[in-house]
Amino acid sequence: MMKHEENILLIGFMGCGKTTVANALHDAYGMDIIDTDALIADREGMSISDIFAQKGEEYFRNLETQLLIELQGVENTVISCGGGMALREVNVAEMKKAGRVVLLTASPETIYERVKDDHSRPLLENNKSVEFIAGMLEARGPKYRAAADMVIATDGRTAEEICREICREICR
Ligand code: S3P
Repeated sequence: MMKHEENILLIGFMGCGKTTVANALHDAYGMDIIDTDALIADREGMSISDIFAQKGEEYFRNLETQLLIELQGVENTVISCGGGMALREVNVAEMKKAGRVVLLTASPETIYERVKDDHSRPLLENNKSVEFIAGMLEARGPKYRAAADMVIATDGRTAEEICREICREICR
């Protein structure tokens, strides 16, 4: 098995496949996985939706920043970042220090299909349409791209293919 000491940070919009690709990187290369949403929800003892509803988005965003700072020093790890992580400049600086930042992209139609039956994402709840997703993607796109060392389109591709492409670029 290939040893991969450099961390990989997966960023991108909700439904771009960060969790799936993180699992594939774990299976193929034995990398550990840290999912920032899961860790935050676990520590707070409530779902991301409840954190947004009860404590507000700003509170959640501050937890994201603190977590990234705390994660400096992990090795051989895929850090699957919540979809808003790349929007703060301070987070981008921390991500770049921690490892290689890989942006996963998908079309609004693909994202819609992937998220339409999910109720765990407060920013999309009651806003699930291709048009709404396209608008958010357009607003966020420049920040996502500015944060990325590598960009991978996921439409119509398997997690294994994406994983191999990441490794061709990054693994030693
Ligand atoms: C968010 C994405 C979510 C989660 C929160 C906010 C965003 O993560 O962090 O609902 O602002 O894009 P996923 O991208 O893992 O769904």
